This record gives sequence, C-alpha cells and structure tokens, in this order.
Amino acid sequence: MISISDKKPVTSGNIKLEFYFEGTPVGELELCTRNGQIGVWDVRIYPDYRDVGLGNQMMIELVETIRKYFWDFPRAYLYVFKDNIKAIKAYEKAGFIINSTDDYSRYFRDPPILMEMEI
Ligand SMILES: CC(C)(COP(=O)(O)OP(=O)(O)OC[C@H]1O[C@@H](n2cnc3c(N)ncnc32)[C@H](O)[C@@H]1OP(=O)(O)O)[C@@H](O)C(=O)NCCC(=O)NCCS
Repeated sequence: MISISDKKPVTSGNIKLEFYFEGTPVGELELCTRNGQIGVWDVRIYPDYRDVGLGNQMMIELVETIRKYFWDFPRAYLYVFKDNIKAIKAYEKAGFIINSTDDYSRYFRDPPILMEMEI
C-alpha cells in the first residue's frame, strides 16, 4: 500500500507529500490550502514507477488523506491538460470531476482542464 511520508500534514500553506510503495518513495505532489480550498499541484509518479497503477493508488490515498486531515475544507481542485489521459483517469478514479464551465481558452491556446471534488 501507499502511505504518506513521515510528517503529519499541517492545515495551512503549502504542503508537500511524498508517497511510498513497499518502503520506496514512488511519487509526490503539493497541496496548497488557501481561501477554504485545497489545490493539488505538481502531481507526479517518479519515472521508473509509472504505468503500473501507482498514480491511481496515490490519488485515492490523497483523497483519504484530505478527508482525514482537511475535512473542514469544502473543495479540492486541480488542473490538468486534456491530452494527459493517464492523469485524468487517475483523478477521475479518485473522485475528481471535470468542471466544464471553467474556460481558460481566452488565456491559453491549449487551456488546462479544471477538475474538482467536494470533500
Ligand atoms: C500522470 C501520472 C501521475 C499517472 O500515474 P501512473 O502511475 O503512470 O498511472 P497509472 O498506472 O496509475 O494509470 C492511470 C490510468 O491511466 C491508464 N494508462 C496507463 N498508461 C496509459 C497510456 N499509455 N495511455 C492511456 N492510458 C494509460 C491506466 O490504465 C489507468 O487507467 P485505469 O485505472 O482505467 O486502468 C504519471 O504518469 C506521471 O507522473 N506523469 C508525468 C507527470 C504528470 O503528467 N503529472 C500530472 C500533471 S497534471
């Protein structure tokens, strides 16, 4: 199973989390808690550990962690480029939903997709 690294998350500011599989660090992400919302940034599984389901597991573990430590935040969100099918699948499996009302096409030629979930 994947587990959160040594430090218990704090509930303000930016929090970096590293994820372990059988004692080996396999991925990381950053949480940004502001204005009652949790932004999930810089999600990555380290290159040697991709495509074997760990991204899925990391995101599921992340949602459990958010519900455990950040239950007073009503919403979590993240951005992903629409051609990043693997990431979108992993996020959807964990419960994130695409918000199709968010439109950044005014600002970007290839706008990122907003995904979010209620905590
Ligand atoms: C995106 C990332 C986190 C996904 O983690 P991963 O461990 O590689 O992905 P998983 O093995 O858990 O697979 C996730 C889903 O993508 C599918 N998938 C795997 N390889 C795929 C491929 N080449 N093409 C399409 N889908 C693929 C899996 O089948 C799985 O879907 P399923 O659960 O419906 O079967 C990881 O690849 C990564 O770090 N990429 C580089 C950084 C990045 O893009 N970060 C996201 C920024 S928003």
